[in-house]
Amino acid sequence: MSERSQQAQQPVLQLQQLTRVHGSGATEVHALRGIDLDVFPGELVAVMGPSGSGKSTLLTIAGGLDSPTSGRVIVENTDITSGDRKVLSALRRRSIGYVFQDYNLIPALTAAENVALPRELDGVSARKARVEALAALEEMELGHLADRFPDEMSGGQQQRIAIARALVGDRRLVLADEPTGALDSETGESVLALLRARCDAGAAGVLVTHEPRFAAWADRVVFLRDGAVVDQTVRSDADSLLTGQAGQR
Ligand SMILES: Nc1ncnc2c1ncn2[C@@H]1O[C@H](COP(=O)(O)OP(=O)(O)OP(=O)(O)O)[C@@H](O)[C@H]1O
Ligand SMILES: [Mg+2]
Repeated sequence: MSERSQQAQQPVLQLQQLTRVHGSGATEVHALRGIDLDVFPGELVAVMGPSGSGKSTLLTIAGGLDSPTSGRVIVENTDITSGDRKVLSALRRRSIGYVFQDYNLIPALTAAENVALPRELDGVSARKARVEALAALEEMELGHLADRFPDEMSGGQQQRIAIARALVGDRRLVLADEPTGALDSETGESVLALLRARCDAGAAGVLVTHEPRFAAWADRVVFLRDGAVVDQTVRSDADSLLTGQAGQR
């Protein structure tokens, strides 16, 4: 998406002066120190940085799974850090898909049931949720896995199911924390292709990754160090930065 058409749109995700302090007193850790980040429809942003730089903290707060110490998280024009908790949790569930490194599929449910679950939590009837889940699986060419249980699938297959679960019901914001961490590179690419396709279809995505080759799928790369954004790059210069000095910054 061109920069001009992005500017005409509202960001799906806005992080404003986000801070997060874990613990207190002598053990206090400043995991985030004033993060500002906007992610627009159609955009996939990669977040990179050393271990402990705050990437997962940023993502869990952006997804409403943790609260900031200060600052605001705005998803589709609603501040998800303040207001009626019930309304906000419904909004978070409806708008945000979250993909974890370790898939987090529910072992007792089949692939289709795992994908249907968020929709059932949305209040959609079980039958309709299943129809939607099967459609999402077909769209991602995963229909043949619908009736398999997690322990009957490879890691890559499980992660693709986890992505289908994060995307079902047209979630506008997809957050993925090292979704390729446990996968070989070819399978990792196929997972990234799914995320990329969803962003191309209009969702906003944030991808935490250590791998430059996966970050290369993003429109923009944000580098964190010690809880602050130290560098940002757009795709046109991402390749040279990623293959150059970025790791030493
Ligand atoms: N629940 C917690 N309690 C105390 N400190 C925490 C907690 N969660 C994270 N931290 C600290 O906050 C900082 C940022 O952690 P975070 O998990 O966000 O890093 P990360 O960039 O995701 O690292 P990695 O690449 O290893 O996953 C680290 O110093 C970490 O030790
Ligand atoms: Mg992490």
